[in-house]
This record gives sequence, C-alpha cells and structure tokens, in this order.
Amino acid sequence: MVPSTPTATTAAPGRAERSSAAQRSSSELGFTDQRTEITVEALPVEGEVPSWLTGSLLRNGPAQWDLQTGSVNHWFDGMAMLHRFAFSEGKVSYRNKLLRGKAATAYERDGKLSYREFASDPCKSTFGRVMSLFDPSLTDNGAVNITQVAGKWVAITESPMGVEFDPRTLETIGVYQRAKGSRVPLAHEHVDRATGEIYGVRTLLGRKCAYELTATERTTGVERLIARIPVKHPAYQHSFALTERFVVVGEHPFVVDPLRLLLSGKPFIENFRWEPQHGTTFTAVDRRTGEVAGTWTAPASFCFHHVNAFDDEDGSVVVELCAFDDASIVHALALQERRDGAAIPESTLRRYRLPRGGGDVVVETTAPASMELPRIDDRFARAPHRFVWGVGLGGEDASFLDRLVLADVQQGEVREWHEPGVYPGEPVFVPRPGGTEEGDGVVLSVLLEPALGASSLLVLDAISMQEVARVRVPQHIPFGFHGGFVKSLA
Ligand code: CO
Repeated sequence: MVPSTPTATTAAPGRAERSSAAQRSSSELGFTDQRTEITVEALPVEGEVPSWLTGSLLRNGPAQWDLQTGSVNHWFDGMAMLHRFAFSEGKVSYRNKLLRGKAATAYERDGKLSYREFASDPCKSTFGRVMSLFDPSLTDNGAVNITQVAGKWVAITESPMGVEFDPRTLETIGVYQRAKGSRVPLAHEHVDRATGEIYGVRTLLGRKCAYELTATERTTGVERLIARIPVKHPAYQHSFALTERFVVVGEHPFVVDPLRLLLSGKPFIENFRWEPQHGTTFTAVDRRTGEVAGTWTAPASFCFHHVNAFDDEDGSVVVELCAFDDASIVHALALQERRDGAAIPESTLRRYRLPRGGGDVVVETTAPASMELPRIDDRFARAPHRFVWGVGLGGEDASFLDRLVLADVQQGEVREWHEPGVYPGEPVFVPRPGGTEEGDGVVLSVLLEPALGASSLLVLDAISMQEVARVRVPQHIPFGFHGGFVKSLA
C-alpha cells in the first residue's frame, strides 16, 4: 500500500489541476470526481458469478465534488451518482448515471452550488444573508440511500426532497416530496414486509422542534403519524432502531440549537455541538399506540448506523449499532481530510440492552473489530441475529476503510477479507434461493483498486469470506454509501 503523504494545499484545486496532481493518499481516487457515464453489457469476470444470482445491485453515493467555483466541503456533499450492476446467468452488466435533480441540474448548468448541502452552502452573494428553515434552497441531492414507495424508486438524503429515477436506465424522473416544509427525514428507513409498512423518523426543525415517527404504506405512500416527541435541542440522527413492538430513537449528544441553524450563516452540520454531558438517550415508542414505553440514558457515544434491534424474551429491548466515542468522525469525513488521508476514528459494534421498566442500560462490545456501513441478513431483522457484515479499518497506513468484516455477534468472533491497497464499500448480503440459514448466500461489495485506477465488484461467500468472483469495471467508482439488491430487476 502506498503510504499516505499529506500535502498542504491552500485552495481547492479545480478539475484540470486535480487530474494531474500526484496522489496524496492511496484512497484519494475514491474521492475523485467521476464524470463519465457508461453502459457496459458484459463486464469481464474473474472467477465465477453464481448462476443463481439474478437481479440488480443498485448503489448510490456522491461522485462529483469539484465545482468551477471550488470544491464542496465534505464527502457527503458530492453530487449523487447511481450505479446498477445487473446479474443474469453469470453475466454482469453495468451502468452509471448522475442523479439530475434540482441540485445537480443547477450545478451542471452553472458550475456552482445553488442548494444547501450537509456541510456546504452556496456562496452568500447568491444565497442571501438570512437563512430560513423553510428555505426552498434545501438540496434534493439524494446521494445517501435508495427507497421504494408507491411504485416509485427514490434516491434520498437528509432532505424533505428525494429524486425519483428509473431503476433500469437510472434516468432521473423528477423531484419526489418526502415531507413537508422543515421536516427532515432520515436517509435510513425500516421496511416491515409483514405489515407492508416503511417506518421513518424525521426531525421537525423550527421554533418548536420535535421528532416525528411515521409509518407509510409501501404500496400507496399513505402516511400515518405514530408519535411526535417534542425536543428543545435536536440531536443529529442518521438512522434509528425498529423492533416488532417499538420504534427506538437514539439521541447521541451531537445537538443543535435551532436558532443557531437560522442565524449562524453556517452550513447545516457546522451548527451542531458535541455535548457529552447529556449522555446517549434511547426512547422506545409503541409502534401501534404511539405511547412512549421508556426512556434510557447510556454513556455518550456517536452513531451513524444502527445495525439491528429486537424485543428480548425478558421484555428488554436490545439495540445494536456502530458506535464512535465522539462526533469527530463528522469532520474526519470532510473532503480535504479524506483526500489527504488524515487519521480517521474507528467505530465498534455495540449492543445496548434497555431493561423493561427502566433501569441501567447494559452496554457491551459484541465483536473485536472496527465496523461501519453495517448490513445484516435482512430475513433476521428485528430478531436475535448472529451475523453482521461491514467495512473496517485495519493497517496503520490505511487511509480509509480497507477491509470487509464479518462479525459473529453471538460468538464474538470476526472474519475479514483484506487485500493491500484495495478499499471495499458497503457489503450487501444476498441470500441463496431456497436457503433458510442465516448467512447462506453471498455478499457484494464495490472495490476501489487505486493501482488499476478503476473499481470492481467483489462477490464473496458470505460465511467463509472467500472470494467467489471479481467483476472488472473500466473506470473508478467514487466511495459511496448505500444500496440494495433487487431480485425483480434482472
Ligand atoms: Co447511512
């Protein structure tokens, strides 16, 4: 692996400069713009893609950060690009497309930012000095995740607006309104296939703030408000937990004074403050009645991703998540930090047992490994699962997440897939048809291979973590976030 060699830069380099600049960290290519949209009918395959693997892996993530006026501030702020790997009889096709909602369309037309992103705002002269939480300039740059509601496929981020797209061609269809006004829904939802509902949590930002818990009929898009929980200083949230009985909201003490959001003139996330004295609070709300069943406080931690949760036999609620000691990861994922290969905090798999009727939270680390972008065998959602797949940070010279990790949270054991100088993305588990055992199947992960200047798609046996196949993509795929496998999309 090439050691990270940070270089001081005083200004955000433009596109042409960047492409000729020496690489400063071996993972920098993952934070380098991809502007070429391609369609390849049959990618070169090494090994053998299982013939039963039929359907499409849809991926989402930022892919363009360098505007004519300079770069955006954060990994999360790049313009969204969709990717589709389609599998049929051992063959794999690929295509990628920029998500052309309002934000990306304006950016392509003007070469500058016109909408407010996570950590970047349009320059003040075009934006005006006074911000409003009801501002129409909130982004629709859905770079984080993909959801399906009312027959529509929608790319989403933490914004009231998503962008609908065609899941086959990846062409943009148009803006999809996810919530009204200043309600900011999370980019992670839970689908309960038994009830046909999508569960969501959003933060109402205004003079009076609240968390709103919702259940939406997946086929019709009709929404039911489960509960509204008032909060003075909302916590930054990216995901939450769902059990058969409860929606569990985790408030990690990275909080915002809503007045600061309105008046500071700073981008969204810069208004949040780390206040560990509040600890981490979990609130369980009954899915059916909307009543608060309990509130628990645990030592302060920060979290992007919940893993799974379930109601235990003794009536306690068990919540598993990827926990950081503090919120410094947010800044560590700033664009310049990542391009420089700066140090990155690690998160661990933590399990919180919330006892029935209140009492002390029991916290344990379930596996001896760093873990992010966690995925499970979805058939075991809301049940006492055994396996979690994720990406982890390994060697001292690793400038980014550099291995795939399988954690057995019942045995406390870990198995890894690692190749020096290669950077894998979120592993998506796909069950073998007819199999019922947890983990019987493969995991799919997009690899960045900087030495080749390109990416590939890795197919691993999910339990042995042995490589089954590698599918070569003729260009690089910037580091993305989330996606899913869709069987019906062959
Ligand atoms: Co996420």
